[in-house]
Amino acid sequence: MLSKSAAKAFFLGGTALCSTVFLGLSYDTFQQMPQRTNAAGLTASVIRGKHLWEDKNCMGCHTLFGEGAYYAPELTRVYERRGPAFIAAQLKDPDAMFPGQRRMTNYHFTDGEVTDLVAFFEWAQTVDLNGFPAKPSLGAPAQRAASASAQKKPQIFSQLCVTCHSLEGTGGTVGPALDGVGSRLDAAYFERWLKDPLAVKADARMPKLPLDDAQISELVTFLSAQKEMPR
Ligand code: HEC
Ligand code: HEC
Repeated sequence: MLSKSAAKAFFLGGTALCSTVFLGLSYDTFQQMPQRTNAAGLTASVIRGKHLWEDKNCMGCHTLFGEGAYYAPELTRVYERRGPAFIAAQLKDPDAMFPGQRRMTNYHFTDGEVTDLVAFFEWAQTVDLNGFPAKPSLGAPAQRAASASAQKKPQIFSQLCVTCHSLEGTGGTVGPALDGVGSRLDAAYFERWLKDPLAVKADARMPKLPLDDAQISELVTFLSAQKEMPR
């Protein structure tokens, strides 16, 4: 049995030791904070995007860093998942991206505001969250298939075009399947179409997407190579 004074010393010593460890670890965490939050990446544009995120109450439907509502997709890694062109198109005209589905508010953002929000999402994915959110485990066969087809497809195609178009049986159904489209249409048409669908067809339902020249030429090459398989 401990004597009364030994118990007291044990209690005080233990408290002092644990407090020291606690304060030391807290100090260490605060030291790491600027690096973990990528504070250096907080440009004026990112900060304006953050304020838009708050003012427009995007969290009323979305989560970011796991916080918010569960009506709409988690957005912490949306920049990596969807890429800047998709995000810009979604913010400019949400209805055009998902016609007739769950609704996202059209905020009628200016181009500058869209750029700021895209910058905010680009920053958000650089924050060190100890691996949150975890990538879904699709199992080995699905991952092998995904990486095999990802090699042939331009990244912008997998991020943006598959929302509405399918290829080899996977993708959206808003637009026509693009299998064999290179046998039906030629490179010049693809280029005009991707630059501005409405200039080609007055009643086009495909929105004008924010693509740069390099992405357009990559897509034109890719689409032209989608030849009809001889049966
Ligand atoms: C009324 C609810 C609602 C609000 C408010 C809202 N969104 Fe959305 N958002 C959605 C829905 C629903 C989708 C998904 C559309 C679908 O899958 O049919 C979406 C999709 C997105 C996507 C694409 C996500 C992905 O993985 O495809 C981005 C980016 C996005 N929203 C950003 C924002 C931003 C930024 C704000 C605030 C300015 C905002 N949203 C406010 C409902 C909302
Ligand atoms: C929001 C939905 C949507 C997105 C995103 C989209 N498209 Fe489309 N696309 C359509 C629709 C709908 C049509 C059918 C023509 C029309 O009425 O606009 C179409 C038509 C096409 C056609 C002509 C196909 C044919 O058989 O006539 C091509 C080629 C095409 N899209 C390529 C693309 C590429 C490449 C991307 C990615 C950069 C893309 N689309 C993104 C909706 C979309």
